[in-house]
Parts: sequence; C-alpha cells; structure tokens
Amino acid sequence: MEKIIEEHKQGESLVRLPKSGNTKKLFIESYGCQMNFSDSEIVASILAENGYDTTQQLEEADLVLVNTCSIRDKAEQTVRKRLETYNAIKKINPSMKVGVLGCMAERLKSKFLEEEKIVDMVVGPDAYKDLPNLLKEVEEGRDAINVILSKDETYGDVAPVRLNSNGVNAFVSITRGCDNMCTFCVVPFTRGRERSREPQSILEEIGDLWARGFREVTLLGQNVDSYLWYGGGLKKDYDKATEMQKATAVDFAQLLDRCATAFPKMRFRFSTSNPQDMHEEVLHVIAKHPNVCNYIHLPVQSGSTRILKEMNRQHTREDYMALIDRIRAIIPDCAISQDMITGFPTETEDDHRDTLDLMEYVKYDYGYMFAYSERPGTLAARKMTDDVPEDVKLRRLREIVALQQQHSLARTQAFVGQVVEVLIEKESKKSDQHWSGRNSQNTVVVFPKEQYKPGDFVLVRVDSCTSATLIGEAIGYSNMN
Ligand code: SAH
Ligand code: F3S
Repeated sequence: MEKIIEEHKQGESLVRLPKSGNTKKLFIESYGCQMNFSDSEIVASILAENGYDTTQQLEEADLVLVNTCSIRDKAEQTVRKRLETYNAIKKINPSMKVGVLGCMAERLKSKFLEEEKIVDMVVGPDAYKDLPNLLKEVEEGRDAINVILSKDETYGDVAPVRLNSNGVNAFVSITRGCDNMCTFCVVPFTRGRERSREPQSILEEIGDLWARGFREVTLLGQNVDSYLWYGGGLKKDYDKATEMQKATAVDFAQLLDRCATAFPKMRFRFSTSNPQDMHEEVLHVIAKHPNVCNYIHLPVQSGSTRILKEMNRQHTREDYMALIDRIRAIIPDCAISQDMITGFPTETEDDHRDTLDLMEYVKYDYGYMFAYSERPGTLAARKMTDDVPEDVKLRRLREIVALQQQHSLARTQAFVGQVVEVLIEKESKKSDQHWSGRNSQNTVVVFPKEQYKPGDFVLVRVDSCTSATLIGEAIGYSNMN
C-alpha cells in the first residue's frame, strides 16, 4: 500500500501513450469474450508504436489481425469463415498480411499455418509484445509464430488504444489466465496460468480514462475475485512469497475499494466472478460504494451438485445458494446473471431439473446459456464421453432459455414505476430521438434525449419494459455528475 502511494506521488507514469499519425494501416477485429476486445486495444497500442494506425476499411489494410475465440466449436467455425473473406480481399490486395491472435492461435499453434494458407502469423495471448519482431519476419516473407505463455505478462505498462469506443465505458484488465481448470473449459490451456496486474498501473489507467471523459470502467479478468497482487508472478506461487510481500498483498476487495475511493464519480463494474473465489468482503465493498454497480455476473453452469463435481467446479449447489443468500442480504437490490451449460457428459433429466430448480431459486436477471461443446485437450474431452445427444442438449437449452426469459421479464417489470440512475452511453439503436444507457443493475434503459448527452448520469422514471429493456423518461441529473 505504502509503496503504491509513494510511486503515485512521484508522478512517474507506468503507462505510456501510443504514437499516432502512422502510415501503415491495421485492421483488427475481435471475437469472443470482453478480454479479447480489451486485448485488441493493447495490440493496437503496441502496433501504433511500430508504424500502424487502425482502419475500419478491410480493403485498405496492410495488416489484418483477427483476435479469436476457442470456447465452443461454433466460435472457431466463425473465425474460419471470416478467413475466407480475407482470402477474397487478398486477391485484390496481395501485399496484405494476415495474423491470427488469441485463443485459437494458442490452441492450434503451427497447425494454423498449415491448415489456413492465408495466415502469415500466429500469436498467442501472452506474446503481443513480440508483434514488432514477428512482423519483421513476415515482411521478409517468412511465416511467424509465438505462442509462448508467460508467468508475469499483464501488459500493465501498455496504454490501450480505445477501439470503437463511445468515450463513456472502457474495460481495464486486472488479471490474466485462469487456474480453475473447469473440465469443459479450454481457457486455462489458451490463456495460461493466472496472474494479477499491479494496482498502481490499474489506477493510472483509470486516471487516464477519467481525464479523457470516461465515466464507467469494467475491471476484467477470467476470475476477478481471485485477483492477488503480491509483487508479481503467478497466483499459484503465492506460497513462495516473502512475509513482506504477503503483508502488503492486495486482493480483489481491496483493489475494488481502492478504485472506487480514488475515483468517486467513476462508475465501476467487474467481470467475471467465480462462485468458489467470491468472498464476502467484496460484497461489503459493493454495498459501501454508490459508484460500484449492484450487479454480479456469477456463472454456475449447472444446478446439479453431481454435474458440478464432474465439471471440477469447487462448489456445490448448496454452497452456491448460500452465496446467493449472502448477496441478497448484503446488497438487497443486486442483479445477478448466470452462465449455464446444458448436456455436459452424463447429465440426466434429474440433473437438468436441478438446473431449472436452481434458476427458480435465484430468478436471475439474465443469462448466457450454451449447449455443451467438447473442446479438444480438456479433461472432459480426454476422460468423458460426449454422451448427451445433440437434440437433447438443445431441448434442455430451449427450456432454460424459456425459463430465463420469464425471470428476466419479471425482473424488468419490477423496475416499472421506479426511478433508476442511468449512465448515458449512446443513441438508442431503434430511435435517434432516444438515448440508451444502463442502470446500476446492468439493465438497458432508453428514454427521450431532451438536453442530456452521453456521459451524463441521469435519473429516469421507468414507465414500461420488455424482458431486456426499461423504457422511461428523464427527470433530472443524478448526483454522480
Ligand atoms: N470465467 C470466464 C468464463 C469464460 S467461458 C469468464 O470470464 O466469463 C464463458 C462461458 O462459456 C462459461 O461460463 C461457460 O458457461 C461457457 N463455456 C465454456 N466452455 C464451454 C464448452 N466447452 N461448451 C459450452 N459452453 C462453454
Ligand atoms: Fe474457464 Fe472455469 Fe476458468 S469456466 S475461464 S476454467 S473459471
């Protein structure tokens, strides 16, 4: 703590701002999780230092980078399809180079270069600082690859170039990798072991965003509650830290508290929480700060303790329900969302009913639901048979989606007649006369523009709703401005 304040006082910025006004053009696009979108901003920054400005026009690009996702087979197929489009463009612009970044790059490694002739460069999530060297190789006509995973890379010293930004919300990554080893999940293999970013560099990045007019930050990690800074290095090596390092370590509750205290008019969100790593301290920090949103994304994956065990989730159905009870007790109006998987190997109708039953218990505000997709190399793929027929997976998926729809509608209906605080983000997609923003609970709110503008915190009286959107009218500014 002392050390951080000390460094802060010296005013020496760890974050360097990228150059612009370059001649070469980079077209970069991202698939998958928020972390990929955030990583692409880091990549754009590294390349801005090395001669590339971004373009939205694929046709004029000297370099095309695609940041890829491996989480489900469908995500990988989407990227393969996209490569066909690049191929067509390359016929018109033969000097265009193509690089693959992210989880597919890490998973497939040099196989990518063999399978997809269009690809010149394959770069894993921890190797982005090597991009300038890899590009040199490519420019000299050789294929280039770096898929080495790191023990300490957090890109804490890179100031991201905000891509496609509305100037209001930004992502700030705080941890990388995941150690949880859920048996269905490819992330620990593609993103490596878990490590945390230095609090000082996180605070500086937020300070820079604040100065540039941003009003909401989402702290990002595969497993944010597991955040632990003790001077650098892997989370799993914490045992080897010195007494001094342990005494000055910063966990997620402390980091969130520090961010919310340092920037009281910046609104904070975080994602994603893993039930086994979420501790009560964090709930008290959320309850304490009006600028920390009352919203927790808390994936559970299944309502059956037996399936949770097969998934290597370190909690039972009862543990999860107890955590929900604590959230409701400490933060009464907290919104909670889920991720669910249907048709994990050996899932029976009884297990599925347990999932529906858990959903009834929690009544989630919304959720992201998926049919199980076997991922090569994961423990489930190696040790279990993907034995639930596709039509059964999909039928169960339809059932949980339908139930979630009912709960989402009940949740939005409960806001009708209430006044909610909204941060205006952008014009509503459906009407140029309306603004769109979100309330603390992360529900989208639309209302007539009047004199307000993006970046304003506004009090909105909710008059009606759909299952995903609140519709209302502004009644004034909130005290967050
Ligand atoms: N902790 C992460 C989870 C990443 S994966 C985070 O930051 O969100 C996101 C979701 O994808 C998981 O919660 C899970 O519901 C789903 N998922 C992961 N692997 C899957 C697989 N093999 N098949 C289907 N869904 C999967
Ligand atoms: Fe994946 Fe489980 Fe980590 S879902 S990202 S291994 S918490």
